[in-house]
Amino acid sequence: MVQSPSQTREWNSSEYHRLSRPQVSWGKKVIARLSLRGDESILDAGCGTGRLTADLLQALPNGRVVALDLSQNMLRSAREYLQPQFGPRAQVLAADLQDLPFENAFDGIVSTAAFHWVLDHDRLFRGLYRALRPRGWLQAQCGGGPNIARLLERMATIAGSPKYAPFLASFPSPWFFQDAEGAVETLQCAGFVDIQTGLEPAPTVMDDRQHYMEFVRTVIVRAHLDRLPDPDLQAQFVSQLADQAAVDDPPFLLDYWRLNLSARKP
Ligand SMILES: C[S@@+](CC[C@H](N)C(=O)[O-])C[C@H]1O[C@@H](n2cnc3c(N)ncnc32)[C@H](O)[C@@H]1O
Repeated sequence: MVQSPSQTREWNSSEYHRLSRPQVSWGKKVIARLSLRGDESILDAGCGTGRLTADLLQALPNGRVVALDLSQNMLRSAREYLQPQFGPRAQVLAADLQDLPFENAFDGIVSTAAFHWVLDHDRLFRGLYRALRPRGWLQAQCGGGPNIARLLERMATIAGSPKYAPFLASFPSPWFFQDAEGAVETLQCAGFVDIQTGLEPAPTVMDDRQHYMEFVRTVIVRAHLDRLPDPDLQAQFVSQLADQAAVDDPPFLLDYWRLNLSARKP
């Protein structure tokens, strides 16, 4: 059973909200890089359940944030989380990062853990550039470079085995892990200036086997599992990854790398 794009774009948002401690800790560091007046209008591009959007809104007592995402589940959770605390200062919006509907609309754009899910970065950065006002800024972080390389190798081996190959062998990667030099080029082509990019390792150890399996299932192999025809096969796929991670040193380590991006519209 092959899922339609509208199904694969969906997330289990309550599980993501519960499990996204690594993403939240990386995202807090991105928000700490901002120097805000407090009255800006900001886009949170790929807001998920809004945990980091809330941090942004707290730093903007007189500002507002448009929290944008493609997943209806994420948007529902973000709305429930943000609107009681921030009312109309938090606007939650469904849109595709590859097709941004804004022009000269924002003083700044923040994005965390989202851009690697977008395959066409030329189009993404052109849309972000258009969305900014003159002198508007972009501060972002996403997976990049050798992000989860060891896990990808293991996934490829398992996916090629007879049980999974009919469903996964021709499945293209759902991610684009850009490197620092490539990101400079793409940002320049879109018109950005004052560009800084850099990769940083972010190795992340899960508490135990159960935590590893929940996290991998919810955050990383979501789109792969959507391709598998039944829950047993899905569980076996995650369990095989956990078996291998259990004998790593330290066990249950995810070899994350983050790509930091900062740039400005002239
Ligand atoms: C790992 S979550 C990150 C959420 C949040 N920024 C955080 O750091 O916790 C990635 C988010 O990007 C969103 N996303 C992926 N591709 C997208 C696209 N093309 N347009 C809009 N949102 C997208 C997903 O729906 C998901 O909510």
